[in-house]
Amino acid sequence: MEPTAHPASGRVDVKGVAIAYDGRGGHNLALARTDLVIEAGSFVSLIGPSGCGKSSLLNAVGGFVSPAEGTITVDGKPVVGPNPEVGVIFQQYALFPWFTALGNVEFALKRFGLPRGELRDRAMEALREVGLEVHALKYPGQLSGGMKQRVAVARTLASQPKVLLMDEPFGALDAQTRISMHEILMRVWEKHKSTVIFVTHDVDEALLLSDRVHVMSVAPGRIVRTLEVSAPRPRSVEKIDPETIAHRVTVLQLLKHGHDE
Ligand SMILES: Nc1ncnc2c1ncn2[C@@H]1O[C@H](COP(=O)(O)OP(=O)(O)OP(=O)(O)O)[C@@H](O)[C@H]1O
Ligand SMILES: [Mg+2]
Repeated sequence: MEPTAHPASGRVDVKGVAIAYDGRGGHNLALARTDLVIEAGSFVSLIGPSGCGKSSLLNAVGGFVSPAEGTITVDGKPVVGPNPEVGVIFQQYALFPWFTALGNVEFALKRFGLPRGELRDRAMEALREVGLEVHALKYPGQLSGGMKQRVAVARTLASQPKVLLMDEPFGALDAQTRISMHEILMRVWEKHKSTVIFVTHDVDEALLLSDRVHVMSVAPGRIVRTLEVSAPRPRSVEKIDPETIAHRVTVLQLLKHGHDE
């Protein structure tokens, strides 16, 4: 497959960002000063020990948490709060239980003010992309974990965010379902060309999906290594190239030691 032509929008700049929470011990640093440039249309992963600040950084890019220091911009515009240009998918399936799969996707499209028929067509198209067309009229309670997460992907992508934040989105799924989620995600990412920032604990998942993997230290986290993954797409865990094997060893060693020194 030809390399994806990256669009000019969806670039994320993290400049001197530190994140702290007020707690019993005073001001607790969750993320040490971090600089990160995420190119428009690229797929990057953040991997690091539990509690190192991955979700905090993601939440700051999403505008849900304000950094104690530094700035985050999307295409040069400072992030000052949640913004529909930045979509989020978390581990728990945040679907409305009282809407069908279709209703959940339609709800996310409301902000576009489309005529009723077009709203339905766009929502059905998004469900088709994740292979859920035949389940469109089921409620979340009638869907498996993988299907619910596919609805979440459809819902987020239908609203065409420039940047998609995914926080361990497939962590709760079984191995087989994860593999099919990876295939679906790669397909829709190549089509929509959103920038994706993906948090995972799984080195193989990070290397399979990403253009770049940023490895973080133990808390308070900082980025200790950035790896470029040049293996051609589509990739598969069955055919792993030598570079990926070397990256895998590097990431596992960094995670084991918790830092770079
Ligand atoms: N809302 C909050 N209030 C106070 N402290 C928080 C809050 N959210 C996170 N923290 C603290 O910030 C630090 C980083 O947490 P964060 O959730 O960002 O880590 P993480 O890398 O995503 O971990 P995990 O891999 O376990 O999901 C932790 O010490 C955590 O306790
Ligand atoms: Mg987290």
